[in-house]
Amino acid sequence: MCGIVGYIGHREAYPIILNGLKRLEYRGYDSAGIALFDGEDIKLSKTKGKVNDLEKKIESEISTNGTLGIGHTRWATHGVPNDVNSHPHYSNSGNLVIIHNGIIENYESLKKELLKRGYSFASDTDTEILINLIQDIKEKENVKLGKAVQIALNQVVGAYAVAVFDKEKPNEIVVAKLGSPLAIGIGDGEFFIASDATPFLEYTKNAIYLEDEEMAIIRKHKDVKIRKIKDDSLVNPYVQELQMNLEQIEKGGYDHFMLKEIFEQPSAIKDTYRGRLLSKEAIIKMAGVEDNMKKFINAERIIFIACGTSWHAGLVAEYIFEDLVRIPVEVEYASEFRYRNPVIKENDVVIAISQSGETADTLAAIKLAKSKGAFVFGVCNVVGSSIARESNAGAYTHAGPEIGVASTKAFTTQITLLTLIALRLARAKGTISSSDYRLHLLELEMIPEKVNDALKSEAHIKKIADIYKDVHNFLYLGRGYNFPVALEGALKLKEISYIHAEGYPAAEMKHGPIALIDDNMPIVVIATKKGHYDKIVSNIQEIKSRKGKIIAIVTEGDTSVKELADHVIEVPETLESLTPLLTTIPLQLLSYHIAVMLDKNVDQPRNLAKSVTVE
Ligand code: F6R
Repeated sequence: MCGIVGYIGHREAYPIILNGLKRLEYRGYDSAGIALFDGEDIKLSKTKGKVNDLEKKIESEISTNGTLGIGHTRWATHGVPNDVNSHPHYSNSGNLVIIHNGIIENYESLKKELLKRGYSFASDTDTEILINLIQDIKEKENVKLGKAVQIALNQVVGAYAVAVFDKEKPNEIVVAKLGSPLAIGIGDGEFFIASDATPFLEYTKNAIYLEDEEMAIIRKHKDVKIRKIKDDSLVNPYVQELQMNLEQIEKGGYDHFMLKEIFEQPSAIKDTYRGRLLSKEAIIKMAGVEDNMKKFINAERIIFIACGTSWHAGLVAEYIFEDLVRIPVEVEYASEFRYRNPVIKENDVVIAISQSGETADTLAAIKLAKSKGAFVFGVCNVVGSSIARESNAGAYTHAGPEIGVASTKAFTTQITLLTLIALRLARAKGTISSSDYRLHLLELEMIPEKVNDALKSEAHIKKIADIYKDVHNFLYLGRGYNFPVALEGALKLKEISYIHAEGYPAAEMKHGPIALIDDNMPIVVIATKKGHYDKIVSNIQEIKSRKGKIIAIVTEGDTSVKELADHVIEVPETLESLTPLLTTIPLQLLSYHIAVMLDKNVDQPRNLAKSVTVE
């Protein structure tokens, strides 16, 4: 969590940093701050609240001149969100200033030592300890800033992406990374620093992504020197050309990123299967899978590891893989998996799913699985992310940047990609007939059009949202492939509208949740034609006799459920295994409109952040 931005070059740093922070606000938004070097001194301003609050404060507080600066948007870990705990932090001398994304785990012992040496601390943050440790080393050892940062980081346990500068040497910024992302944009005599490349897209398409345990000394008008933090060896920088464009990271006329991303799903799904699904030739081509076909074919078990929405995509994949590939599947919360003593064998294939590719628990679970000999395949959206790099092989979803904190297109593109993998493996293993395989390919190819049709119910869904926006509890029910969709629908509602919602397998309802049902309780039931239709109709009847309000997601043309439900929302017909790609859409729209009507901050819900880089 937390977003960091920096600039050193010939332009005014302030607008670049401020705009960059706005783009990175999805990473954390409980406080923000900027430090600029104005040619003589450091000008620092920070505040609890959002980047807009910072902007207002800065205007009345500091001059914004200077061609060097750093900025931070925070998701609090150590210390509550308040002005003092916000970054940047000064060292005691007032010469050094730092921004930090991550956690210093051994902060207490470091602090004790520094207290003994006469240091004092204004904030409750681990970051302030780090900057004073750097100052202490710099003075004690009489070394340059870069060396002091390196020595300090060798004493640190934890995760970090940091940027530091020294007002005595205002021609360089020192950055370093372990566990949290850090990109350096390379311009013409100017350099940009950011947690991802979005803050500098309009200035340069050339970027270096630091690897873990690397640091860089970035010198104005000169160069970037990258070294290994541990052994000081020089690293040859690998400059990548960015494929993103500005349009992708702007709202494009929508009120919120979330809505834009919901409506982007037809094209995002197409981008996921483009060049991979060749329906005419009846081929699925995915290099990461082909190159490792033996591993997949010989797998005794597939274990999906993920968190949150990505975990829900893993649950959908469990149904698809067991159904089509006939391999036993387990779906694990990364945070539980990594701290259990899981039985992992060399013939296990672990598929890690992550939109951001930076989720700390998923990353740690991958490392654990690899250490036990499993083959790890990463399914990520963000190109070059830590999980993508840590996996033995993988495939990108190509969904484009997802900026709304609540995942939408990430979910449907993950399911699309996992379906492609399942179909390819089923073909290779002979567990699917050629006609069924072709049918799946044709149907999958038609999903974007059908998602488009599902999106047309928006106005109708808005009316339903208006009726139920003031309730305190929602229940979501689904069976089979649509049970994970019920979980996802409930998660979407609670995270952006703060209404309590639970997802359940419909048949489990009578083992407990049915007690909740009364005439105030809206129950969203996914009741599409294929699969367990009759069973779910019985479940709807059970709800009806307890006077619950039923919002049913049904297949176009359905009549039976229509007679029972208070509201129906139609989605086009497709194969049972592909229904989650359609039934998810109305649930996303329902949560979105309820949250908007309740005047919640849809794109930046409270207490959340887009990429959870702390455990
Ligand atoms: C929910 C949501 C989170 C993420 C979870 C995993 O809308 O966005 O639950 O799905 O934090 O994130 P990734 O997929 O980036 O690993």
